[in-house]
Amino acid sequence: MRRGAALRVIVIALLVAAIVTAVAIFIPWLPDQASSEADEIDFVFWFVTAICVGVFAVVAGISIYAGIKFRARPDDDSDGPPVHGHTGLEILWTAIPAVLVTAIAIVSTIALARNDSLPDEHLRVHVIAQQFTWRFEYPDHGELRSATLRLPVGRAAHLTMEARDVIHSFYVPEFRQKRDVVPGEVTNLIITPTKTGDYTIQCAELCGLGHAAMLQKVEVVEQTAFDEWAEGRAEEMEEGGEVSGQAIFAEQGCGGCHTFGPAGSTAEQGPPLDNLPELADRAGEPLDQFIRESIVNPDAYVERGYPNVMPPFDLPDEQLDALVEFLSGGAAEGGDGEL
Ligand code: CUA
Repeated sequence: MRRGAALRVIVIALLVAAIVTAVAIFIPWLPDQASSEADEIDFVFWFVTAICVGVFAVVAGISIYAGIKFRARPDDDSDGPPVHGHTGLEILWTAIPAVLVTAIAIVSTIALARNDSLPDEHLRVHVIAQQFTWRFEYPDHGELRSATLRLPVGRAAHLTMEARDVIHSFYVPEFRQKRDVVPGEVTNLIITPTKTGDYTIQCAELCGLGHAAMLQKVEVVEQTAFDEWAEGRAEEMEEGGEVSGQAIFAEQGCGGCHTFGPAGSTAEQGPPLDNLPELADRAGEPLDQFIRESIVNPDAYVERGYPNVMPPFDLPDEQLDALVEFLSGGAAEGGDGEL
């Protein structure tokens, strides 16, 4: 009788386990791996999933069996028999979770420690997060900066990350590595890309109205392509040649919040920059002066209907000049257009 019950519970549990395992395995829950750190993270993920499948199957097996076997008849209004605790069972269902949780802690600690070990040969990248954009600086390459994160394939990148306003979180699903970016401290992340291609950084911490739009591109390229790009950019900057307002706009991530036709940006967290002449009128200032002030000291004039979340931008003079020119030129064109 008792053996029969146990056997039934086991059969139901195995059935449930088979179904849930199929759901876990045959639905592609995770994007393809694109970093060498992803192995460790995925191992922890599947380790925990396997434990969950086991626990779920046991609980479901007992519940389903009990639900069928001990169902009350429709006309049965009597109380069930009084049941007292069972010391043996209680020890068992305390001990098993304790062992499982300890195992998860050990496996996770090993994975984190391995993914935190930095090879001597690595690329340094400084990440600046602010509502609602990411910027990247490459201290190994002088003044090199960009709004797209470019990484050479097969080489560890050491990201040191700072936030200018609130907490953000750096996450590229294909790399698996994820870490908060916190104002007032520098957090670290190590990523070793294993596949060339384009990926997307997703901010993974609710950071304000534009959080969902805080997406930016990562390009993983061959080392030679990376070097060419880095050298090209460094030369451009050293020659002091043309500082392009459009490049500064992209580099500083202005398009993360503002719509601006000439730059092709369509974000709506901040006032649309195609209307700059109108905004300047309302602020009662000449256009160029208004734009300059709004970049350097955004608090000076805040457009109605927009929370002022823009941090002051401290740019070298020539970059500021170029950006102001780009914005006022674009604004004039927009103003002369069909609008
Ligand atoms: Cu930044 Cu969410």
